[in-house]
Amino acid sequence: MIKFIPLDDVFDIRNIVLREGKLPPGQPRFPSDDVEGAFHLGYFAGDTLACVASFHPEAREPYQGVGYQLRGMATLEEYQGKNFGNQLLNFAIVYLRGQKANYIWCNARKKALRFYQNIGFEVISPEFEVPGIGPHYVMYLKIQ
Ligand SMILES: CC(C)(COP(=O)(O)OP(=O)(O)OC[C@H]1O[C@@H](n2cnc3c(N)ncnc32)[C@H](O)[C@@H]1OP(=O)(O)O)[C@@H](O)C(=O)NCCC(=O)NCCS
Repeated sequence: MIKFIPLDDVFDIRNIVLREGKLPPGQPRFPSDDVEGAFHLGYFAGDTLACVASFHPEAREPYQGVGYQLRGMATLEEYQGKNFGNQLLNFAIVYLRGQKANYIWCNARKKALRFYQNIGFEVISPEFEVPGIGPHYVMYLKIQ
């Protein structure tokens, strides 16, 4: 089941999956978490929160209309490959279409490229390095 969840509920999975569990509780917190209009989604496997993603309004040149950036896309390792991430992102796409958003973009880890391509995102930048994390691409999905 997919639900809107409070910010406090995303930190554990972000930390475990995206920062190897090295950060203190309540981290990583992104500046974008405080942007007006930010929201967080969770996929529950039974009672267990298994996958999270966060979105906030943020335009990206050169695209027109209302853009949202996706951040903190993460599925607990034992639940990866079960289509939870795909369902969560598709839920967000339908929701954001309803909000009259035009596109979603993200800084995608190279190893997650195929995950995003499966959903229809396209690469719009050269490869770049995020220090301490690894190679990334900017990816873009037009949603209406
Ligand atoms: C990338 C990630 C969010 C995908 O979530 P998920 O719930 O495993 O995704 P789904 O099950 O819906 O989709 C699986 C697809 O993603 C791809 N994928 C990427 N990394 C994967 C992984 N570690 N395990 C399984 N599938 C992975 C596969 O290509 C698979 O596509 P396929 O069915 O064509 O083989 C998740 O694997 C994850 O948290 N990875 C580590 C953190 C990360 O890289 N996050 C993205 C930051 S930009």
